[in-house]
Amino acid sequence: MTTGALPTESAVRAALSKVDDPEIGKPITDLGMVKSVAVNDDASVDVTVYLTTSGCPMRTEISGRVERAIADVPGVGTVRVDLDVMNDEQRTELRKKLRGDKAEPVIPFAQPGSLTRVYAVASGKGGVGKSSVTVNLATALAERGLSVGVLDADIYGHSVPRMLGSDAKPTQVERMIMPPISHGVRFISIGQFTDGNTPVTWRGPMLHRALQQFLADVYWGDLDILLLDLPPGTGDVAISIAQLIPGAE
Ligand SMILES: Nc1ncnc2c1ncn2[C@@H]1O[C@H](COP(=O)(O)OP(=O)(O)O)[C@@H](O)[C@H]1O
Ligand SMILES: [Mg+2]
Repeated sequence: MTTGALPTESAVRAALSKVDDPEIGKPITDLGMVKSVAVNDDASVDVTVYLTTSGCPMRTEISGRVERAIADVPGVGTVRVDLDVMNDEQRTELRKKLRGDKAEPVIPFAQPGSLTRVYAVASGKGGVGKSSVTVNLATALAERGLSVGVLDADIYGHSVPRMLGSDAKPTQVERMIMPPISHGVRFISIGQFTDGNTPVTWRGPMLHRALQQFLADVYWGDLDILLLDLPPGTGDVAISIAQLIPGAE
């Protein structure tokens, strides 16, 4: 049993404002994910949290974070976390909040004033260590506290998911793709959209469209660094990247 005054609802909400959504990296209170908060007479707290999608792979992680944050509020007894799922309207609201109200997704890294440094790791040859360098650099920079993303642009021979040791699939909220995170690095790869190790044959325009989607439809958040793991050679991918992000180094 607890002693003294009951915790206030505002104290509970303040604790919730410190809980980040694991995929989006912003407080759940800012994302419209808190459906209800109730402090009961016995000092127990009931909270209902909206998930963005019903199949959200982060559901356990989210309830755990919420439960721990509330349990830390002085005076709180039992904590019950219920989950609900956003409706289409709420998802649209969320997308607008994150992306602005633009009809067509834009590539944030190609906008003037973008603070993200984009580095393309390239070489004419295959098997020389491009992917190894990309992944090691990414995890090392993330370890230093930078916000890092990796785009596996080697759509013929993707290897980033394997090197990052994760076969997680991205979640999709409306037209936004939430990249999985491994070793502190957000990453997206065509390997997350195909079954097993199926090699993918791409024609120029399709490939350009795929890269454009990876850059514009993926919610990368505010990255310090985006690393692009390019396929060998100086073909279509390199040309597309140069067109899509002229500032890439
Ligand atoms: N510095 C290195 N020394 C020795 N072997 C390496 C080194 N970097 C990568 N490799 C190995 O070389 C192979 C190709 O590396 P990978 O990073 O996939 O190259 P790429 O992306 O250029 O095709 C892999 O088996 C990898 O383990
Ligand atoms: Mg490679």
